[in-house]
Amino acid sequence: MRVRLFIKMIVLYFCIVISTLTMLGVLLSFLINNYFLFNKQMEMITKASNISNLVKPYLIDNRYPGTVVSLLNGAEKNLGTEIWIIDPTGRTVAAASKAREHEGDFIDARDIKAMNSGKTSVRKGKSKLFDETALWVVTPIEHNNKIIGGTIMFSPIIGITQTTEKVRNLFIYSALVSTIFATIVVHFMAKYVTSPLREINKLSKHLAKGDFSKRVRVPQNDEIGDLAEAFNHMASQIEKQEKLRRDFVADVSHELRSPLSNIQGFIEAMIDRKDKTPEDRARYLNIIHKETIRLSRLVNELLYLSRIESGPPETGTAPVNLINVIEHSIQKFKPSAEEKNQNIQLANLPDDEIFVNGNYDRLEQVITNLLDNANRYSPINSDITITVEKSDDTVVVLVKDMGEGIPAEELPLIWERFYKVDKARNRQHGGTGLGLAIVRQIIESHCGTVKVDSKIGNGTQIGFVLPLYNPA
Ligand SMILES: Nc1ncnc2c1ncn2[C@@H]1O[C@H](COP(=O)(O)OP(=O)(O)O)[C@@H](O)[C@H]1O
Ligand SMILES: [Mg+2]
Repeated sequence: MRVRLFIKMIVLYFCIVISTLTMLGVLLSFLINNYFLFNKQMEMITKASNISNLVKPYLIDNRYPGTVVSLLNGAEKNLGTEIWIIDPTGRTVAAASKAREHEGDFIDARDIKAMNSGKTSVRKGKSKLFDETALWVVTPIEHNNKIIGGTIMFSPIIGITQTTEKVRNLFIYSALVSTIFATIVVHFMAKYVTSPLREINKLSKHLAKGDFSKRVRVPQNDEIGDLAEAFNHMASQIEKQEKLRRDFVADVSHELRSPLSNIQGFIEAMIDRKDKTPEDRARYLNIIHKETIRLSRLVNELLYLSRIESGPPETGTAPVNLINVIEHSIQKFKPSAEEKNQNIQLANLPDDEIFVNGNYDRLEQVITNLLDNANRYSPINSDITITVEKSDDTVVVLVKDMGEGIPAEELPLIWERFYKVDKARNRQHGGTGLGLAIVRQIIESHCGTVKVDSKIGNGTQIGFVLPLYNPA
């Protein structure tokens, strides 16, 4: 993985470096070329007109050709260019050396024409004599408003070509150096990026194998560090989920074990004919019946809990009239309460209606579970009271009973799945320990919180706080 990323990064880096340097090099050599050429031209034009002025007196009537030649010789040595003089037709009249006597013949006719109209012309091109790129400057020599000839100055531009070449070499060198540098930098960059990625890769393999104990150690304080942190967070979540799942399976098996072994035990006793009398038989069957009811209740509640846990939150569904929910639940609960001669009443009822955002059936399940506990854990002939208190934006619903109460240290635990305060006592009540877990799950999915207050022997107040329905 590291090699692949390294190669990609280095290729990218090269593309950037090479294209930048090439562009810069081309631009620079173009600028240098033009700058040098321009300077050279100006210099040659000045020199050529100086020469023109110098030789002019001797050219009039072509009186001293020998003097002109020696003047040109001197100038040529001083200036490092080649010079010759032509007449208005372009024929060479004087040159510093024999070799250039006929160079004038090669001068472009347009330059001769320009010269005859008093203009200086400059031309760049290949010399026929020397086979190299050169500059020509042709300046007119004027006397009494008449063109009597011209000075031609010729200079190869090797210097410019050499400078451009030097610049190009410089660029190639710097490209090489920066490439070496880039390789080193990219090497470390790739390491910097890939080593945490490999760590994460390793961790994900551990996770896949079910080992949740490992975490990534990434010191980077950037996106890579964030990724590692997110990954660690995910690993922790998975670990937590996994623990929940294991505990859950253990709890469920534990809950199933005792009714199942009871059923098994009593059926085996009946197979072995241990039920001597019809009363024995009826007692055994009664126990078996009770245990099957407990089992099916357990399974139903588990299914219900898992359904509400995996469902979407209940907020933002529809406004529900909470008083209707409570009255409906009380109505349904009346028969069970009457069995224990318990009186259920609704107190503190506010004048106006109370709406919350949520699911009618789920909220009814909450009240039912709370009433079920009050009914179960309170003696006969006692009162169960539901109070509803409305504030600005919340409503508090409490179910109060006159039952045995819950020890203070166990109050936070009663909301856990399968938690029962007194296991022995609970067996006889036939509870599953899931009722309040269901209550909490539903209330939290309605963005509410659960509430409990209880004293041993002094009854229990248990309920919830829900945000009021807000149409805005
Ligand atoms: N009103 C109450 N009075 C006394 N104890 C209660 C009351 N409500 C709940 N509890 C205790 O909290 C435990 C958890 O309640 P719950 O989740 O409804 O399970 P269960 O199926 O046992 O009723 C119960 O076993 C009981 O011990
Ligand atoms: Mg219960």
